[in-house]
Amino acid sequence: MTGLPLASPHLNPNVLGLPPSATLAINERSNELISQGRQVYKLGLGQSPFPVPRSVVDALRRAAPEKDYLPVRGLRPLREEVTEFLHRRHGIERARRQVLVGPGSKELIFMTQLAYAGELLVPSPSWVSYAPQARIIGRRVTWLPTTLEDDWKLLPQVLDEYCSANPGLPRLLILNYPNNPTGVSYKEAELAGLAGVARRHQLLVVSDEIYADLDHHGRTASIAHHYPEGTVVSTGLSKWCGAGGWRLGVFSFPDELEWLCGAMAAIASETFTSVSAPIQYAAIEAFRGGPEIERYLEHCRTVLRALGTHSATALRNAGCRLPPVDGAFYLFPEFGAAADRLQQRGIDDSPGLAEQLLQDTGVATLPGSVFGRPRPELTLRLSYVNFDGERALAAVEAGEPVDEAFIREHCPDTVEAMRRIAEWVTG
Ligand SMILES: Cc1ncc(COP(=O)(O)O)c(C=O)c1O
Repeated sequence: MTGLPLASPHLNPNVLGLPPSATLAINERSNELISQGRQVYKLGLGQSPFPVPRSVVDALRRAAPEKDYLPVRGLRPLREEVTEFLHRRHGIERARRQVLVGPGSKELIFMTQLAYAGELLVPSPSWVSYAPQARIIGRRVTWLPTTLEDDWKLLPQVLDEYCSANPGLPRLLILNYPNNPTGVSYKEAELAGLAGVARRHQLLVVSDEIYADLDHHGRTASIAHHYPEGTVVSTGLSKWCGAGGWRLGVFSFPDELEWLCGAMAAIASETFTSVSAPIQYAAIEAFRGGPEIERYLEHCRTVLRALGTHSATALRNAGCRLPPVDGAFYLFPEFGAAADRLQQRGIDDSPGLAEQLLQDTGVATLPGSVFGRPRPELTLRLSYVNFDGERALAAVEAGEPVDEAFIREHCPDTVEAMRRIAEWVTG
Protein backbone atom coordinates (compact mmCIF):
# COMPACT_ATOMS: atom_id res chain seq x y z
CA MET A 1 0.00 0.00 0.00
CA THR A 2 2.82 2.40 0.88
CA GLY A 3 3.91 2.51 -2.76
CA LEU A 4 0.67 4.27 -3.77
CA PRO A 5 1.23 7.86 -4.84
CA LEU A 6 -1.64 9.01 -2.59
CA ALA A 7 -0.25 7.40 0.59
CA SER A 8 1.13 9.50 3.47
CA PRO A 9 4.77 8.33 3.04
CA HIS A 10 4.82 10.66 0.05
CA LEU A 11 4.53 13.67 2.33
CA ASN A 12 7.44 16.05 2.08
CA PRO A 13 9.81 14.82 4.84
CA ASN A 14 10.04 18.41 6.13
CA VAL A 15 6.36 18.33 7.13
CA LEU A 16 6.06 14.66 8.09
CA GLY A 17 4.98 14.62 11.74
CA LEU A 18 4.78 18.42 11.93
CA PRO A 19 2.21 19.22 14.64
CA PRO A 20 -0.20 22.17 14.37
CA SER A 21 1.06 25.40 15.92
CA ALA A 22 1.12 25.06 19.74
CA THR A 23 -0.83 28.28 20.25
CA LEU A 24 -3.72 27.07 18.13
CA ALA A 25 -3.60 23.61 19.73
CA ILE A 26 -4.00 24.99 23.27
CA ASN A 27 -7.03 26.95 22.15
CA GLU A 28 -8.64 23.78 20.82
CA ARG A 29 -7.74 21.89 24.01
CA SER A 30 -9.29 24.69 26.13
CA ASN A 31 -12.47 24.63 24.06
CA GLU A 32 -12.67 20.86 24.46
CA LEU A 33 -12.53 21.20 28.27
CA ILE A 34 -15.12 23.98 28.18
CA SER A 35 -17.45 21.75 26.17
CA GLN A 36 -17.11 19.16 28.99
CA GLY A 37 -18.42 21.78 31.38
CA ARG A 38 -15.06 22.80 32.88
CA GLN A 39 -14.28 26.42 33.74
CA VAL A 40 -11.16 27.30 31.73
CA TYR A 41 -9.04 30.43 32.14
CA LYS A 42 -7.64 30.94 28.68
CA LEU A 43 -4.14 32.30 29.02
CA GLY A 44 -2.99 30.20 26.06
CA LEU A 45 -3.78 32.07 22.85
CA GLY A 46 -2.15 35.48 22.30
CA GLN A 47 -4.97 37.47 20.77
CA SER A 48 -5.75 41.15 21.37
CA PRO A 49 -8.72 41.52 23.74
CA PHE A 50 -9.60 44.94 22.32
CA PRO A 51 -12.07 45.73 19.52
CA VAL A 52 -10.91 47.20 16.20
CA PRO A 53 -11.17 51.04 16.39
CA ARG A 54 -14.55 52.21 15.13
CA SER A 55 -13.19 54.40 12.31
CA VAL A 56 -11.32 51.39 10.92
CA VAL A 57 -14.43 49.18 11.07
CA ASP A 58 -16.38 51.93 9.28
CA ALA A 59 -13.70 52.09 6.60
CA LEU A 60 -14.02 48.33 6.09
CA ARG A 61 -17.78 48.66 5.75
CA ARG A 62 -17.39 51.33 3.10
CA ALA A 63 -14.83 49.19 1.25
CA ALA A 64 -17.01 46.05 1.10
CA PRO A 65 -17.82 46.55 -2.62
CA GLU A 66 -14.11 46.62 -3.54
CA LYS A 67 -13.75 43.40 -5.45
CA ASP A 68 -10.76 43.60 -7.76
CA TYR A 69 -7.43 41.89 -7.38
CA LEU A 70 -4.97 44.46 -6.10
CA PRO A 71 -1.28 44.97 -6.96
CA VAL A 72 0.92 42.20 -5.60
CA ARG A 73 2.92 44.52 -3.30
CA GLY A 74 -0.26 46.10 -1.99
CA LEU A 75 -2.33 49.22 -2.65
CA ARG A 76 -0.07 52.18 -3.30
CA PRO A 77 -1.83 54.52 -0.81
CA LEU A 78 -1.59 51.81 1.84
CA ARG A 79 2.13 51.34 1.24
CA GLU A 80 2.55 55.10 1.53
CA GLU A 81 0.59 55.25 4.78
CA VAL A 82 2.64 52.41 6.25
CA THR A 83 5.88 54.26 5.40
CA GLU A 84 4.48 57.45 6.97
CA PHE A 85 3.30 55.51 10.05
CA LEU A 86 6.72 53.95 10.61
CA HIS A 87 8.33 57.36 10.22
CA ARG A 88 5.87 59.33 12.34
CA ARG A 89 5.37 56.83 15.13
CA HIS A 90 8.66 54.92 15.11
CA GLY A 91 11.22 57.28 13.59
CA ILE A 92 12.09 54.77 10.88
CA GLU A 93 13.36 56.53 7.76
CA ARG A 94 12.96 54.88 4.41
CA ALA A 95 14.08 56.77 1.32
CA ARG A 96 11.43 55.14 -0.84
CA ARG A 97 8.13 53.50 -0.05
CA GLN A 98 9.29 49.91 -0.22
CA VAL A 99 6.53 48.06 1.52
CA LEU A 100 5.11 44.61 0.93
CA VAL A 101 1.59 43.84 2.17
CA GLY A 102 0.80 40.23 3.04
CA PRO A 103 -1.93 38.08 4.60
CA GLY A 104 -0.50 38.46 8.12
CA SER A 105 3.11 39.08 9.06
CA LYS A 106 3.42 35.34 9.73
CA GLU A 107 3.15 34.66 6.00
CA LEU A 108 5.64 37.44 5.21
CA ILE A 109 8.14 35.97 7.67
CA PHE A 110 7.64 32.58 6.03
CA MET A 111 8.22 34.08 2.57
CA THR A 112 11.43 35.73 3.80
CA GLN A 113 12.72 32.37 4.93
CA LEU A 114 11.71 30.86 1.59
CA ALA A 115 13.37 33.61 -0.44
CA TYR A 116 16.58 33.95 1.59
CA ALA A 117 18.82 30.90 1.52
CA GLY A 118 20.41 31.40 4.91
CA GLU A 119 20.51 29.86 8.35
CA LEU A 120 17.88 31.12 10.80
CA LEU A 121 19.15 32.61 14.08
CA VAL A 122 16.62 33.11 16.86
CA PRO A 123 17.09 33.86 20.55
CA SER A 124 15.76 31.24 22.95
CA PRO A 125 12.96 31.86 23.88
CA SER A 126 11.25 33.07 20.68
CA TRP A 127 7.78 33.02 19.17
CA VAL A 128 6.54 29.52 18.28
CA SER A 129 6.39 29.78 14.48
CA TYR A 130 9.83 30.97 13.32
CA ALA A 131 11.57 27.61 13.76
CA PRO A 132 8.77 25.39 12.32
CA GLN A 133 8.69 27.66 9.26
CA ALA A 134 12.43 27.07 8.79
CA ARG A 135 11.86 23.34 9.19
CA ILE A 136 9.12 23.33 6.52
CA ILE A 137 11.49 25.02 4.08
CA GLY A 138 14.45 22.87 5.11
CA ARG A 139 16.60 25.63 6.63
CA ARG A 140 18.95 25.15 9.52
CA VAL A 141 17.89 26.79 12.80
CA THR A 142 20.23 27.92 15.56
CA TRP A 143 18.81 28.95 18.91
CA LEU A 144 20.99 31.56 20.59
CA PRO A 145 21.07 31.30 24.39
CA THR A 146 19.70 33.99 26.71
CA THR A 147 19.16 33.95 30.47
CA LEU A 148 16.51 35.07 32.89
CA GLU A 149 19.19 37.16 34.63
CA ASP A 150 19.54 39.14 31.37
CA ASP A 151 15.73 39.39 31.07
CA TRP A 152 15.78 36.77 28.29
CA LYS A 153 17.48 39.25 25.95
CA LEU A 154 20.03 38.36 23.29
CA LEU A 155 23.42 39.87 24.15
CA PRO A 156 25.67 41.25 21.38
CA GLN A 157 28.60 39.10 22.55
CA VAL A 158 26.52 35.91 22.26
CA LEU A 159 25.56 36.81 18.69
CA ASP A 160 29.12 37.80 17.88
CA GLU A 161 30.65 34.64 19.30
CA TYR A 162 28.33 32.43 17.28
CA CYS A 163 28.84 34.30 14.01
CA SER A 164 32.62 34.57 14.49
CA ALA A 165 32.90 30.83 15.09
CA ASN A 166 31.02 30.14 11.84
CA PRO A 167 32.09 32.99 9.53
CA GLY A 168 30.98 33.79 6.02
CA LEU A 169 27.57 32.11 5.95
CA PRO A 170 24.34 33.87 4.96
CA ARG A 171 22.18 34.30 8.04
CA LEU A 172 18.79 35.65 8.97
CA LEU A 173 18.32 36.95 12.52
CA ILE A 174 14.75 37.47 13.73
CA LEU A 175 14.45 39.78 16.69
CA ASN A 176 11.07 40.44 18.29
CA TYR A 177 10.28 43.20 20.79
CA PRO A 178 8.17 43.77 22.80
CA ASN A 179 8.60 40.07 22.95
CA ASN A 180 6.34 37.09 22.65
CA PRO A 181 6.71 35.10 24.96
CA THR A 182 8.50 37.28 27.56
CA GLY A 183 6.79 40.70 27.36
CA VAL A 184 10.25 42.28 27.51
CA SER A 185 11.55 44.91 25.11
CA TYR A 186 15.05 46.07 24.18
CA LYS A 187 16.44 49.48 24.99
CA GLU A 188 17.85 51.64 22.22
CA ALA A 189 21.45 51.10 23.43
CA GLU A 190 20.97 47.31 23.50
CA LEU A 191 19.70 47.37 19.93
CA ALA A 192 22.64 49.56 18.90
CA GLY A 193 24.98 46.89 20.29
CA LEU A 194 23.24 44.11 18.37
CA ALA A 195 23.16 46.27 15.22
CA GLY A 196 26.96 46.65 15.34
CA VAL A 197 27.39 42.87 15.39
CA ALA A 198 24.75 42.36 12.68
CA ARG A 199 26.55 44.85 10.41
CA ARG A 200 29.96 43.28 11.04
CA HIS A 201 28.64 39.85 10.06
CA GLN A 202 26.33 41.14 7.31
CA LEU A 203 23.24 39.54 8.80
CA LEU A 204 19.81 39.99 7.30
CA VAL A 205 17.62 41.15 10.20
CA VAL A 206 13.86 40.87 10.42
CA SER A 207 12.76 43.18 13.21
CA ASP A 208 9.43 41.72 14.27
CA GLU A 209 7.70 44.80 15.69
CA ILE A 210 4.15 43.42 15.64
CA TYR A 211 3.77 44.54 19.31
CA ALA A 212 5.72 47.81 18.97
CA ASP A 213 2.64 49.96 19.41
CA LEU A 214 1.74 48.04 22.55
CA ASP A 215 4.87 49.01 24.41
CA HIS A 216 3.28 49.88 27.74
CA HIS A 217 5.08 53.22 27.90
CA GLY A 218 4.78 54.07 24.22
CA ARG A 219 8.53 53.64 23.65
CA THR A 220 9.66 53.00 20.09
CA ALA A 221 13.20 51.64 20.03
CA SER A 222 14.09 49.83 16.80
CA ILE A 223 17.17 48.08 15.45
CA ALA A 224 16.26 49.76 12.14
CA HIS A 225 17.50 53.03 13.69
CA HIS A 226 20.99 51.52 13.96
CA TYR A 227 21.24 49.07 11.06
CA PRO A 228 18.79 50.44 8.50
CA GLU A 229 20.46 48.92 5.44
CA GLY A 230 20.11 45.33 6.68
CA THR A 231 16.80 45.50 8.56
CA VAL A 232 13.33 44.63 7.37
CA VAL A 233 10.67 45.94 9.75
CA SER A 234 7.63 43.73 10.28
CA THR A 235 4.29 44.89 11.65
CA GLY A 236 0.58 44.64 10.89
CA LEU A 237 -2.96 45.11 12.15
CA SER A 238 -3.18 41.99 14.31
CA LYS A 239 -2.07 43.28 17.69
CA TRP A 240 -2.20 47.06 18.05
CA CYS A 241 -5.37 47.31 15.96
CA GLY A 242 -7.01 44.22 17.46
CA ALA A 243 -7.56 42.72 13.98
CA GLY A 244 -5.76 39.36 13.97
CA GLY A 245 -8.54 37.75 11.99
CA TRP A 246 -8.35 40.36 9.26
CA ARG A 247 -4.99 38.93 8.24
CA LEU A 248 -2.96 41.91 7.17
CA GLY A 249 0.77 42.25 7.81
CA VAL A 250 3.36 44.59 6.31
CA PHE A 251 7.11 44.56 5.73
CA SER A 252 9.13 47.73 5.19
CA PHE A 253 12.42 47.31 3.30
CA PRO A 254 15.42 49.60 2.86
CA ASP A 255 16.57 50.35 -0.69
CA GLU A 256 19.51 48.00 -0.19
CA LEU A 257 17.10 45.04 0.16
CA GLU A 258 14.99 45.72 -2.94
CA TRP A 259 16.21 42.37 -4.33
CA LEU A 260 14.59 40.59 -1.38
CA CYS A 261 11.36 42.57 -1.63
CA GLY A 262 11.23 41.76 -5.38
CA ALA A 263 11.77 38.04 -4.78
CA MET A 264 9.09 37.95 -2.11
CA ALA A 265 6.68 39.84 -4.37
CA ALA A 266 7.32 37.22 -7.05
CA ILE A 267 6.47 34.44 -4.56
CA ALA A 268 3.35 36.35 -3.53
CA SER A 269 2.30 36.69 -7.15
CA GLU A 270 2.46 32.91 -7.57
CA THR A 271 0.72 32.09 -4.31
CA PHE A 272 -1.80 34.43 -2.62
CA THR A 273 -1.78 37.14 -5.37
CA SER A 274 -2.75 40.01 -3.07
CA VAL A 275 -4.39 40.61 0.29
CA SER A 276 -8.18 40.96 0.39
CA ALA A 277 -9.15 44.30 -1.19
CA PRO A 278 -11.60 45.61 1.48
CA ILE A 279 -9.08 44.84 4.23
CA GLN A 280 -6.38 46.82 2.43
CA TYR A 281 -8.67 49.84 2.05
CA ALA A 282 -9.57 49.69 5.73
CA ALA A 283 -5.89 49.38 6.66
CA ILE A 284 -5.20 52.76 5.04
CA GLU A 285 -7.45 54.30 7.70
CA ALA A 286 -5.71 52.36 10.47
CA PHE A 287 -2.18 53.35 9.50
CA ARG A 288 -3.21 56.96 8.80
CA GLY A 289 -4.01 57.21 12.52
CA GLY A 290 -5.31 60.41 14.04
CA PRO A 291 -6.57 61.47 17.47
CA GLU A 292 -9.18 58.70 17.85
CA ILE A 293 -6.65 55.95 17.15
CA GLU A 294 -4.00 57.60 19.31
CA ARG A 295 -6.47 57.73 22.20
CA TYR A 296 -7.48 54.12 21.60
CA LEU A 297 -3.83 53.03 21.73
CA GLU A 298 -3.15 55.06 24.85
CA HIS A 299 -6.09 53.40 26.58
CA CYS A 300 -5.11 49.90 25.46
CA ARG A 301 -1.60 50.47 26.82
CA THR A 302 -2.90 51.81 30.10
CA VAL A 303 -5.05 48.72 30.71
CA LEU A 304 -2.29 46.32 29.66
CA ARG A 305 0.29 48.11 31.82
CA ALA A 306 -1.94 47.88 34.91
CA LEU A 307 -2.95 44.28 34.31
CA GLY A 308 0.59 43.18 33.41
CA THR A 309 1.91 44.78 36.59
CA HIS A 310 -0.84 43.24 38.74
CA SER A 311 -0.24 39.78 37.23
CA ALA A 312 3.55 39.92 37.51
CA THR A 313 3.27 41.01 41.15
CA ALA A 314 0.88 38.16 41.96
CA LEU A 315 3.30 35.65 40.43
CA ARG A 316 6.39 37.15 42.07
CA ASN A 317 4.63 37.01 45.44
CA ALA A 318 4.12 33.29 44.81
CA GLY A 319 7.87 32.81 44.30
CA CYS A 320 8.01 32.91 40.50
CA ARG A 321 10.85 34.75 38.83
CA LEU A 322 10.14 37.00 35.88
CA PRO A 323 11.67 40.06 34.25
CA PRO A 324 10.15 43.56 34.17
CA VAL A 325 6.99 43.88 32.08
CA ASP A 326 7.62 46.23 29.13
CA GLY A 327 4.93 45.55 26.56
CA ALA A 328 2.55 43.29 24.64
CA PHE A 329 0.36 40.97 26.77
CA TYR A 330 2.65 38.14 27.81
CA LEU A 331 4.46 36.96 30.92
CA PHE A 332 7.05 34.20 31.07
CA PRO A 333 7.35 33.14 34.71
CA GLU A 334 9.95 30.64 35.90
CA PHE A 335 8.88 28.24 38.67
CA GLY A 336 12.34 26.96 39.67
CA ALA A 337 11.89 27.99 43.33
CA ALA A 338 9.04 25.47 43.60
CA ALA A 339 10.90 22.70 41.73
CA ASP A 340 11.09 20.32 44.71
CA ARG A 341 7.42 20.63 45.57
CA LEU A 342 6.45 20.23 41.91
CA GLN A 343 8.70 17.21 41.58
CA GLN A 344 6.81 15.57 44.46
CA ARG A 345 3.68 15.96 42.36
CA GLY A 346 5.42 14.29 39.43
CA ILE A 347 6.12 17.50 37.52
CA ASP A 348 9.63 17.72 36.14
CA ASP A 349 9.34 19.60 32.86
CA SER A 350 7.44 22.52 31.32
CA PRO A 351 4.91 20.45 29.33
CA GLY A 352 4.09 18.54 32.55
CA LEU A 353 3.79 21.83 34.42
CA ALA A 354 1.36 23.30 31.87
CA GLU A 355 -0.72 20.12 31.71
CA GLN A 356 -1.02 19.64 35.48
CA LEU A 357 -1.82 23.31 36.03
CA LEU A 358 -4.61 23.05 33.45
CA GLN A 359 -6.00 19.88 35.00
CA ASP A 360 -5.86 21.13 38.60
CA THR A 361 -6.89 24.76 38.19
CA GLY A 362 -8.39 25.15 34.69
CA VAL A 363 -5.71 27.72 33.79
CA ALA A 364 -4.52 27.16 30.19
CA THR A 365 -0.96 28.25 29.42
CA LEU A 366 1.84 27.19 27.09
CA PRO A 367 5.04 25.41 28.19
CA GLY A 368 8.37 27.19 27.75
CA SER A 369 9.59 24.25 25.64
CA VAL A 370 7.47 25.33 22.64
CA PHE A 371 9.38 28.61 22.63
CA GLY A 372 12.73 26.85 22.38
CA ARG A 373 13.56 26.53 26.09
CA PRO A 374 14.99 23.25 27.42
CA ARG A 375 12.15 20.91 28.47
CA PRO A 376 13.24 20.52 32.12
CA GLU A 377 13.21 24.30 32.68
CA LEU A 378 9.99 25.17 34.51
CA THR A 379 8.78 28.10 32.41
CA LEU A 380 5.32 28.95 31.11
CA ARG A 381 3.92 31.59 28.81
CA LEU A 382 0.82 33.39 30.02
CA SER A 383 -1.24 35.70 27.77
CA TYR A 384 -3.18 38.06 30.02
CA VAL A 385 -5.97 38.70 27.54
CA ASN A 386 -8.95 36.80 29.00
CA PHE A 387 -11.07 39.86 29.67
CA ASP A 388 -13.67 41.94 27.83
CA GLY A 389 -11.51 44.54 26.12
CA GLU A 390 -14.45 46.50 24.76
CA ARG A 391 -15.92 46.96 28.23
CA ALA A 392 -12.56 47.86 29.73
CA LEU A 393 -11.92 50.48 27.04
CA ALA A 394 -15.37 51.97 27.53
CA ALA A 395 -14.64 52.33 31.25
CA VAL A 396 -11.32 54.10 30.59
CA GLU A 397 -13.10 56.31 28.04
CA ALA A 398 -15.67 57.16 30.76
CA GLY A 399 -12.86 58.38 33.00
CA GLU A 400 -12.57 55.49 35.48
CA PRO A 401 -9.09 55.51 37.04
CA VAL A 402 -7.12 52.42 35.97
CA ASP A 403 -6.06 51.13 39.35
CA GLU A 404 -6.23 47.87 41.29
CA ALA A 405 -10.02 48.23 41.71
CA PHE A 406 -10.40 48.72 37.95
CA ILE A 407 -8.41 45.56 37.25
CA ARG A 408 -10.54 43.53 39.67
CA GLU A 409 -13.74 44.92 38.20
CA HIS A 410 -12.88 44.65 34.50
CA CYS A 411 -10.40 41.77 34.29
CA PRO A 412 -11.80 39.37 36.93
CA ASP A 413 -10.92 36.17 35.07
CA THR A 414 -7.31 37.21 34.64
CA VAL A 415 -7.08 38.16 38.32
CA GLU A 416 -8.65 34.83 39.29
CA ALA A 417 -6.29 32.89 36.99
CA MET A 418 -3.26 34.52 38.64
CA ARG A 419 -4.71 33.82 42.08
CA ARG A 420 -5.22 30.16 41.16
CA ILE A 421 -1.67 29.79 39.82
CA ALA A 422 -0.26 31.40 42.96
CA GLU A 423 -2.35 29.19 45.27
CA TRP A 424 -1.50 26.07 43.26
CA VAL A 425 2.22 26.66 43.23
CA THR A 426 2.50 27.59 46.90
CA GLY A 427 -0.01 25.00 48.14
C1 LIG B 1 5.92 37.60 17.70
C2 LIG B 1 4.88 37.44 16.65
N1 LIG B 1 5.20 37.67 15.37
C3 LIG B 1 4.31 37.53 14.39
C4 LIG B 1 3.01 37.14 14.66
C5 LIG B 1 2.06 36.95 13.51
O1 LIG B 1 1.09 37.90 13.42
P1 LIG B 1 0.15 38.07 12.15
O2 LIG B 1 0.45 36.96 11.19
O3 LIG B 1 -1.24 38.01 12.68
O4 LIG B 1 0.54 39.41 11.56
C6 LIG B 1 2.62 36.90 15.97
C7 LIG B 1 1.25 36.44 16.29
O5 LIG B 1 0.93 35.93 17.32
C8 LIG B 1 3.57 37.06 17.00
O6 LIG B 1 3.26 36.84 18.29
